[in-house]
Amino acid sequence: MQVKYHLVKKDEITAARAGTLETTHGKIDTPVFMPVGTQATVKTVSPEELKDLGAEIILGNTYHLYLRPGHDLIAEAGGLHKFMHWDRPILTDSGGFQVFSLNELRKISDEGVLFRSHIDGSSHLFTPEKVMEIEMALGADIAMAFDECAPYPCDVKDVVKALERTTRWAARCKEAHHHEDQSLFGIIQGGMVRELRERSAQEITALDFPGYGIGGLSVGEPKYLMYEMLDCTVPLIPEDKPRYLMGVGSPDCLVEGVARGIDMFDCVLPTRIARNGTVFLPTGKLVIRNAEYARDFAPLDESCGCYTCQNYSRAYIRHLIRCNEVLGIRLTSIHNLHFLVNLMKQIRRAILEGGFYEFREHFFAHYMV
Ligand code: GUN
Ligand code: ZN
Repeated sequence: MQVKYHLVKKDEITAARAGTLETTHGKIDTPVFMPVGTQATVKTVSPEELKDLGAEIILGNTYHLYLRPGHDLIAEAGGLHKFMHWDRPILTDSGGFQVFSLNELRKISDEGVLFRSHIDGSSHLFTPEKVMEIEMALGADIAMAFDECAPYPCDVKDVVKALERTTRWAARCKEAHHHEDQSLFGIIQGGMVRELRERSAQEITALDFPGYGIGGLSVGEPKYLMYEMLDCTVPLIPEDKPRYLMGVGSPDCLVEGVARGIDMFDCVLPTRIARNGTVFLPTGKLVIRNAEYARDFAPLDESCGCYTCQNYSRAYIRHLIRCNEVLGIRLTSIHNLHFLVNLMKQIRRAILEGGFYEFREHFFAHYMV
């Protein structure tokens, strides 16, 4: 099936909304946070643990899975769901972000991006058609179009070039994508320029995709600029389609993104900071390595219902992390993912109950950004 978005409730004060997204592998509640499983695994966390902490959909990366183990091998295994033993929805990103991060190793033309593998230096060409072939072989419920993400800061003329190429590539992706159990989402670019964001939103939505990513944000710009871009972009996306803010995942940005009408988010942040011993709390981030927690036998967060907080103390987790014991980073990863997944569930409940504005006020009264 193709995804179907149902708008359940709109907030009366902000642009926040609660909905559902039906996919081939089940229905998810939105707004939603999607844990990132770049290499067909959410680092250190098993699919059963992901389900237990409440994850409804996860993300995979075309670039990494194409290079290793190869999309043909994953297709042979029966697709990404079977290969990694995850039977809930999956979204694959197109590599339109990863290949542009490979500064020295790439050459961009209208045809596509010629790049060298970060693993063995071998040369590869990603075209919109090639990326569609890979994403169809991976078989996720949602595939993202191949786009060009302009860096920040960036000359306006280069932002325009990336925007125009992203539109041409989106049309080629749509033409090349044929998969009845996978939906292709378009991606809106436009840098930090209002007029260009609006132009990209018009061009990409004119191609009529079942959902839209907003890319090129959270690339080093100040947060107020990202919020400004969301304020001018989101209203141009049809109300009956899901909106996905790509690569955004700090708790404060999730709350502010939802307030501007975003339905989906993904980010490596919760698992990345977990691996250096930083955890999210309702009051802000906490560095568990610090000496002050050596004899702190309370859980990371008394109010948290996650597996980690139900069973282990700050002192124990600090000890594990300091000794580079793998269990330490597994426990902090589980807690951080639970924190964001649960934050979205609380937000959704607040929207449904008509209390999102108060929820947002309450959140920022406690959370130190
Ligand atoms: N992830 C975060 N930002 C982006 C973007 O601009 N494009 C793609 N494809 N993925 C992203
Ligand atoms: Zn916890």
